[in-house]
Amino acid sequence: MLCLTLTGSSLDEDAHILERNRNYISMAELRLDALDASELPAAKDFPRRAGLPLILTFRRKADGGLRSVPEKKRIAFLADAAQGGYAYVDLEGDLRKADLRYEKEGARHDLEADLKARGVKIIRSFHDFKSVPDNIYDLIVKLSKGGAIPKVAVTPHSVADVITLFRVKKEIPLIKDMIVVGMGDWGVCTRILYKRIGSMLSYCCDSSSGIGQIDAKTMKTLYHADEVDERTHIYGVIGNPVLHSSSPQIHNPAFRAIHYNAIYVPFLVDDVRPFLRLAEMIQIHGFSVTIPHKRAIIPYIGHLPREVMKIGACNTVVHTARMWRGTNTDYYAFLSLVRSDIESGRIKSALVIGAGGAARAVVFALRNNLIPVTIVNRTAEHAQYLARETLSSWDTLENTPKYAGKVDLVVNTTSVGMVPDEDGDASMGFPFTGKEVAFDFVYKPRETVFLKKAEAAGCRCIHGADQLLEQGKLQFEEFSGYHYPPQIHPEIGG
Ligand code: ATR
Repeated sequence: MLCLTLTGSSLDEDAHILERNRNYISMAELRLDALDASELPAAKDFPRRAGLPLILTFRRKADGGLRSVPEKKRIAFLADAAQGGYAYVDLEGDLRKADLRYEKEGARHDLEADLKARGVKIIRSFHDFKSVPDNIYDLIVKLSKGGAIPKVAVTPHSVADVITLFRVKKEIPLIKDMIVVGMGDWGVCTRILYKRIGSMLSYCCDSSSGIGQIDAKTMKTLYHADEVDERTHIYGVIGNPVLHSSSPQIHNPAFRAIHYNAIYVPFLVDDVRPFLRLAEMIQIHGFSVTIPHKRAIIPYIGHLPREVMKIGACNTVVHTARMWRGTNTDYYAFLSLVRSDIESGRIKSALVIGAGGAARAVVFALRNNLIPVTIVNRTAEHAQYLARETLSSWDTLENTPKYAGKVDLVVNTTSVGMVPDEDGDASMGFPFTGKEVAFDFVYKPRETVFLKKAEAAGCRCIHGADQLLEQGKLQFEEFSGYHYPPQIHPEIGG
């Protein structure tokens, strides 16, 4: 179940947010601690307005709540609101029996007993905003005592922590209903794959709030996270950072279009070794590799094409029966975008700006097609090194303009011109003649200073978004064995 967390300051606002997200969710959590005090008495009527199962929560400040209230008062507010038709009430795991007693109209009541008598399910929660506790499995079992639904919201900081969360289901197979939440950036993969960690639900936020959590619309329409089952094949992208990646937009809709029960998820990864352990554990079928792991992954790959070995960077890995097989779709995508110009003789020489990972794929692709290349780079030694490896020429970045009129292809492989450096000109003022093909690897913004200048001079321009999409389509073929569905046009860059 996808559960929308409602943190409006009024019930009207919450109702509005709920309406906006209704198509994406099957339940919601009303956070009393977010409401203005004047709204609290009406909270018991909210389930009637909502028309779907609700969790009632009054989070303590120490557990991430938005207001501080004396404890007795907090329990009384919860008890009052819980008179409405809430399906679940969230009570912190450390509350003892005595803490749950409250007075109403002169009589003493026991909130837990009241809820049980009315068939309301009790969630017993634990929050850790700093780490994943060592004893998390014991903790879950403890929270489940008395028939409660245990909830642990913890904060992973490494792949090892993420592995701990993916082991929950295996370690505690007897608890059927539980809620496990991996908070923060490291937890994103666990929130999308919540069903695989054994969590009965995943919390998500309003689609227009754009804060930390994953929004309900993305969870439902991009990941279809609630449709993941035991047979779903898992794919993903590993990197650090990785959450900005456009690859989920490329692969998820395409998997759906070919009716392949598969999901593509971003995995924040600090070290490829533990990730491969996770990959084996949850049977990841294939993954894309982005900065900074494209080189580090190579020793773990059982089979790499010769040219990819030479480039020394791998961006695509697929699981086969006996080993991980790797390739570099940057290389093949680049070639497919310039092949017709090479074959027609329009491109006979090239200037490549940059000497990093992307430049390596580009220079090897061109040299393997016998195109003479000059490499210009901020750090001369890097240009020199790549030039020596590929029998190319090299020069300093400042000398870029002096190649005007002497080359047919100019490729920018650096991040100059990429948001937030939109005014940056990767070409260093290269005076395009209009005859060149201009190719920019930067895809955000779509029209960089480099490409704007080339276009104004009348050059044929190839955009970073074209490269990104092309390499993604080739990855899709590696992953699924199918051609990329022509009806899918992912929105990338912008
Ligand atoms: P990628 O894998 O995307 O190519 P990379 O390996 O880090 O990333 O390479 C980045 C390239 O962009 C390098 O050539 C880098 O130049 P240096 O070798 O001098 O580091 C280049 N680059 C990055 N920022 C730059 C800047 N502000 N000006 C000029 N070149 C820059």
